[in-house]
Amino acid sequence: MSTFTINALAGLALLLAATGLFFFATTRGTLIVRGLAGGRRSSESHVYPIYSRMGLIKLVDFQPIISAILLFQYHRLVSKIVAGLGSTNLKRKQVLITSCAFGNVIPRTVEAALGSGAEKVVIADIIRNELTHARGKLDAQYGRRIEYVEEDATAMHLEEGFADANIIFFLLHELPHDLKVKTLSEAGRMLAPGGKLYLGEFHKPAPFVLKCLSWSYFKVFEPLGLALWDSHDPVAILQEMGGWTVERQTFFFGNFQIVTATRH
Ligand SMILES: C[S@@+](CC[C@H](N)C(=O)[O-])C[C@H]1O[C@@H](n2cnc3c(N)ncnc32)[C@H](O)[C@@H]1O
Repeated sequence: MSTFTINALAGLALLLAATGLFFFATTRGTLIVRGLAGGRRSSESHVYPIYSRMGLIKLVDFQPIISAILLFQYHRLVSKIVAGLGSTNLKRKQVLITSCAFGNVIPRTVEAALGSGAEKVVIADIIRNELTHARGKLDAQYGRRIEYVEEDATAMHLEEGFADANIIFFLLHELPHDLKVKTLSEAGRMLAPGGKLYLGEFHKPAPFVLKCLSWSYFKVFEPLGLALWDSHDPVAILQEMGGWTVERQTFFFGNFQIVTATRH
């Protein structure tokens, strides 16, 4: 092996390690430190600094990075939600996006919702900086057709049943387990009868190797996400709750899922 190749491989390994360390420090690492520091659990204790500090939000929200984190399935997952919104008559209806997410999921779902006739899209997030950041992506094009509200997905204050669609993209796996259930319950409370919940999430993959890799990822970075594989499978939770018709489509050997749940 030439010196150039060795240096290039060493450089790549260093870059990957530094990236891993950065994400660990700005996600789970901070939660561990918060836990060790003690203090009462607040409604924002589980939120990673990459979602609360504006500098980090701007640094991380770069489409290729976000797509890579979702193993380049991001576009397909968002397209499934966009297709659902596109095939629904939302004339004079309202659409809710519960929690912001990086990448173009918000602009694409907003465009689909308004394109299907929705009169307004409400974006709710517990972190004000996330709402400000989302507004930056939307204001020029959509202005007053979007409302931004500081809201906790686990205890919403918006009017019950006001929305005909509710999009939750990769929030559940970051929440403590009791809050996963509350979030799904609140998602249903916000929907009108016949309204649809679109839920993007991780799912237990079928191939053994992918299962091992995915398990390792969760163990290191997002231990709260593993419960989606069994004890807190969102489809099982919704079915147990009752009042839903639930469909699930999985992607990339079962590693991701889009759940489409219709409120009765
Ligand atoms: C949807 S999740 C992560 C999505 C995914 N990792 C991404 O960004 O591509 C991150 C968002 O959820 C928000 N969030 C976390 N807990 C919340 C809660 N209880 N209520 C509302 N928003 C919440 C965070 O503020 C952040 O904007």
